Amino acid sequence: MASSDTLTITDNRTGKTYELPISEGTIRAIDLRQIKSGAEDFGLMTYDPAFMNTAACRSAITFIDGDKGILEYRGYPIEQLAEKSTYLETAYLLLKGELPNESQLKEWQHTITYHTILNENLKGVLDSFRYNAHPMGMLISMISALGTFYPEAKNIYDEEVRHKQIERLIAKMITIAAFGYRHMVGMPYAYPDNDLSYPGNFLNMMYKTTEVKYQPHPALERALDVLFILHADHEQNCSTSAMRSIGSSQVDPYSAVAGAAAALYGPLHGGANEQVIRMLTEIGSISNIPDFIKRVKAGDGVKLMGFGHRVYKNYDPRAKIIKKVAYEVFDVTGKSPLLDIALELEKIALEDEYFVKRKLYPNVDFYSGLIYQAMQFPMDMFPVLFAIPRVSGWLSQWQEMLLDSDQKIARPRQIFTGSARRDYVGMGERKA
Ligand code: SDX
Repeated sequence: MASSDTLTITDNRTGKTYELPISEGTIRAIDLRQIKSGAEDFGLMTYDPAFMNTAACRSAITFIDGDKGILEYRGYPIEQLAEKSTYLETAYLLLKGELPNESQLKEWQHTITYHTILNENLKGVLDSFRYNAHPMGMLISMISALGTFYPEAKNIYDEEVRHKQIERLIAKMITIAAFGYRHMVGMPYAYPDNDLSYPGNFLNMMYKTTEVKYQPHPALERALDVLFILHADHEQNCSTSAMRSIGSSQVDPYSAVAGAAAALYGPLHGGANEQVIRMLTEIGSISNIPDFIKRVKAGDGVKLMGFGHRVYKNYDPRAKIIKKVAYEVFDVTGKSPLLDIALELEKIALEDEYFVKRKLYPNVDFYSGLIYQAMQFPMDMFPVLFAIPRVSGWLSQWQEMLLDSDQKIARPRQIFTGSARRDYVGMGERKA
């Protein structure tokens, strides 16, 4: 280690100096513990609410450069994967670290295709929901319920068992999602068709009616595949961080995925694509945009949904690709009436000092909702469409965490701000 790869810290409370090693652009937080103001002192910790500047793991899966707007899965640029790959091939890449050869891809596609069927008892879980239950609530419950059919999934360190659960979860996400939709609209469940691609099978289970065999529209099938590729993983986002934290207790992957899906459900995360459409609908016309922007800048809690990102301080590379896919979908479905409002809103925001100063650009959610709406997905289904492909990212990150010798059960520390020690007060002595 070169002498420059260290941090020299002087504690002015004691005059003591410490030399901490710097590696991979970080210092180990535990190295701060030795810095004490006296013998009784616990030692220094870092205080980092929302982990704004904390690396919780080392990962080889996804690389993001927020300033340059770069996103790579296992080193492959997202632009190339979106153009040349499929979601299933990308899921394989995320999980295994390399693109599959022809026989590996063939076997992987066969395995996933033949695991799309659900245990019939799970229909009872779905039937217990009211017709207006949010599909994310159903998805989270169904994933957890799914795990109860595979008690062996608790053997997370048995590689064969672990891989089997990973295959089941990736395969069954489209069936659970589609069955939830069919329950919402009161349609009979349409079962998987093993002749179809992963996105094509999802469209089949969503929209098949009385025809003998559902034929997905190729352009829509491809557009959905690209959207699944773009949403598959994104480094240590909120839901992946939840997946790693829950998984660190060594619970089964179904329970961890259910928790990750719950995190994704939030309007600031995977729920944003639904909120974008609600926002654009509320704006209603291009002439109302200036007033809406004023409300956002007034800071009265109104956000420009689909804008901003914790990491990207440049245009989200996925948003660029999605914008292109949107036009391909509109060629088939007809243009969304909200598109012009979205385009004008983006144009105005990108020229406005408030957004420029805060480096707020369109993120993955800004245009994706327009595509989903054009493809007749109800708004409630939008976060579900995010969760379907993200499950391969969650599982890839979970598996990496399990096999990382640095990792153990996640248990952050705190700064205590509560009452000092005090004795119990009987009812008669308490203030009225
Ligand atoms: C996803 O992490 C990931 O990788 C997530 C994701 C993935 O693939 O997993 O990329 C998917 O979740 C995309 C984000 C979808 N969410 C939204 O579009 C909701 C709207 N966006 C914001 O809520 C916000 O931008 C976040 C949550 C995405 C990021 O928030 P940060 O990093 O905590 O930033 P912040 O809230 O501290 O904002 C910094 C400033 C604040 O202003 P000041 O207090 O400094 O004056 O920017 C403002 C914020 O008010 N701001 C916005 C804004 N986002 C941030 N102002 C208006 N509209 C917005 N959208």
